[in-house]
Amino acid sequence: VRGPRGDLPLLAPMSRIAGRLAPQAGAWALQMANGGSGVLLGGVPGVPPARVLVIGAGSVGANAVRIAVGFGAQVTVMDRDTDRLDALDRHYAGRVETSASDPAALDEEIARADLVIGAVLAPGRRAPKLIRRETIRRMRAGSVIVDVAIDQGGCAETSRPTSHTQPLFVEEGIVHYCVPNMPSACARTATLALAQVTLPHVVALAGLGMPEALRRDAGLREGLQVHAGRLTDAALAAELGRDFIPVDQALGLA
Ligand SMILES: NC(=O)c1ccc[n+]([C@@H]2O[C@H](COP(=O)([O-])OP(=O)(O)OC[C@H]3O[C@@H](n4cnc5c(N)ncnc54)[C@H](O)[C@@H]3O)[C@@H](O)[C@H]2O)c1
Repeated sequence: VRGPRGDLPLLAPMSRIAGRLAPQAGAWALQMANGGSGVLLGGVPGVPPARVLVIGAGSVGANAVRIAVGFGAQVTVMDRDTDRLDALDRHYAGRVETSASDPAALDEEIARADLVIGAVLAPGRRAPKLIRRETIRRMRAGSVIVDVAIDQGGCAETSRPTSHTQPLFVEEGIVHYCVPNMPSACARTATLALAQVTLPHVVALAGLGMPEALRRDAGLREGLQVHAGRLTDAALAAELGRDFIPVDQALGLA
């Protein structure tokens, strides 16, 4: 489902929660008992704070930056979209470093980070594998990757989905947190946030019926992925190597 500016209004609240949870999960994973390197995110006077790298400056990334800054960490955020970096640069006025995410710069920043938060999204596609195994081997043992993009396959080559009961695993000496549905850890906040954005659509679908609700709302129409057994999303169809029928045609609107 798309908003008027091409944004993803139903995903956004979940992304905000996952983004705000990511530094918290990372801070916990960095603790010794969890296999972490024993670095405290905020450091203490006389001992430098942890280096946190956030890859992706969208909803997840911007919220992760906010909390990591709150923890007192030394934060770098990377993206290929310089407008997003510009917004964060202006907001944090020097408190956060921003960097364009070319492969060489990414490798260098990942290798020296205590905590890497993967927050990229390629809409309708699997996440790009920006965190390479080779680079992970250069990180200090016990450093942490929180791969928030795991619900889209993950952006680290070493990532595989985990659960809330067993959220962590160690690969190449690095602690990985790869829970595909992070907001369910904070279900009370998540339910309220999700209900706020979904309820108007539920009311429209219940009141008007599916075809009419979709006819009236182009953004909701874009959320239709499958209709009468046929894929209606071009990107998903391309990813799966299947045929697709445009939404308007499937609904008899074209
Ligand atoms: N695990 C969870 O519980 C959970 C919850 C919410 C969202 N997510 C996932 O988190 C990811 C981020 O979501 P979002 O809402 O922040 O998306 P978003 O579209 O708001 O932001 C994604 C950012 O990634 C950047 N990006 C894309 N490809 C890139 C590349 N190759 N190099 C550098 N930057 C790149 C984009 O420019 C954009 O700024 C998605 O994969 C989403 O599915 C996971």
